[in-house]
Amino acid sequence: MEHVRIAGIETEATRVGLGTWAIGGWMWGSTEASDAEKTIRSAIDRGVTLIDTAPIYGQGRSEEIVGKAVTDSGRRDDLVLATKVGLDWSDGIRRDSSPSRIRKEIDDSLRRLQTDVIDLYQVHWPDASVPFERTAEELEKLRAEGKIRAIGVSNYDPEQMDAFRDGAALSTLQPPYNLFERGMEQRHLPYCKENGISILSYGALCRGLLSGKMTSETTFPKGDLRRNDPKFREQRFEQYLNAVQRIDALARKRYNVSVLEFAVRWILDQGVEIALWGARRPDQLDPLGNIWGWNIDADTMSDVDRILAESIEEPVGPEFMAPPENEPS
Ligand SMILES: NC(=O)c1ccc[n+]([C@@H]2O[C@H](COP(=O)([O-])OP(=O)(O)OC[C@H]3O[C@@H](n4cnc5c(N)ncnc54)[C@H](OP(=O)(O)O)[C@@H]3O)[C@@H](O)[C@H]2O)c1
Repeated sequence: MEHVRIAGIETEATRVGLGTWAIGGWMWGSTEASDAEKTIRSAIDRGVTLIDTAPIYGQGRSEEIVGKAVTDSGRRDDLVLATKVGLDWSDGIRRDSSPSRIRKEIDDSLRRLQTDVIDLYQVHWPDASVPFERTAEELEKLRAEGKIRAIGVSNYDPEQMDAFRDGAALSTLQPPYNLFERGMEQRHLPYCKENGISILSYGALCRGLLSGKMTSETTFPKGDLRRNDPKFREQRFEQYLNAVQRIDALARKRYNVSVLEFAVRWILDQGVEIALWGARRPDQLDPLGNIWGWNIDADTMSDVDRILAESIEEPVGPEFMAPPENEPS
């Protein structure tokens, strides 16, 4: 497995991190707690060292499950625990990156995660009602107090990161990124490279679409966010599935790997430091061993771009997931 260092964190992170949104159940149908814990244990046993969670995933549930699984594993010190801050769910879902919200959330997250220090603490969504540098300054205080080791942001654009960096050193950005959602390539990726910010991107499998296991007959249970995802609707779904099939054929022919393995390697070969792969059953991590020891060549990269352009008439991004924006302060 390949590893990277995130500024401020001693423990090396694996270039694939486990995403635990579905593990909290919320917005992914339900997930059995025992499966969820086994999945985390399985990731740790396979050598994954970065686990990403958030208070909003299951309203605390995902953090609790991660905390228990990590404690039971006895491997806390070998792991990079990443969680988030800045979403209030007491009355609908609201962005809130105010200092008082951060103060409330940090102690809840430490307790749920059963740890004294969070390795990577990320602002979940930009909140324009609080100056970005003010949010950063509060996080910097938490770092000085020893409650967190490094600071990250998620879903921020370069201008927002610029303002944020007036208040604290920024170690990471967590944007959406996968073969079908490439909005961050033009500006975010170069900005992060120029400023020494590591990227851990989310949605590596485009919410399962790039697993290669879906067909036009696939349906989702009540409460599963993919019911509202425009990619999973009628003609567009067919077009995305067609692209998946064609990339699968290419990946098998050139590298003897499946589309899922290719999709994760593709992210890493674009220069992204860490790809977050969401899983909720241990067997979903079986392909992990096939991501390493090879790279995608330039011709294949071009062939993939051609397949995408030919297959998908009206691409859509992951914007449907964004919580409502706040008015600027
Ligand atoms: N910062 C943010 O705003 C934000 C937003 C989204 C996600 N994230 C983070 O990024 C992580 C990863 O993204 P994601 O979970 O949204 O999506 P993802 O990695 O694109 O897809 C995860 C889903 O793909 C399916 N899957 C995984 N492995 C599979 C396999 N081997 N075969 C078939 N299906 C498989 C599973 O769904 P089924 O079990 O239903 O098949 C799984 O829940 C999240 O868990 C979270 O930590 C952050």
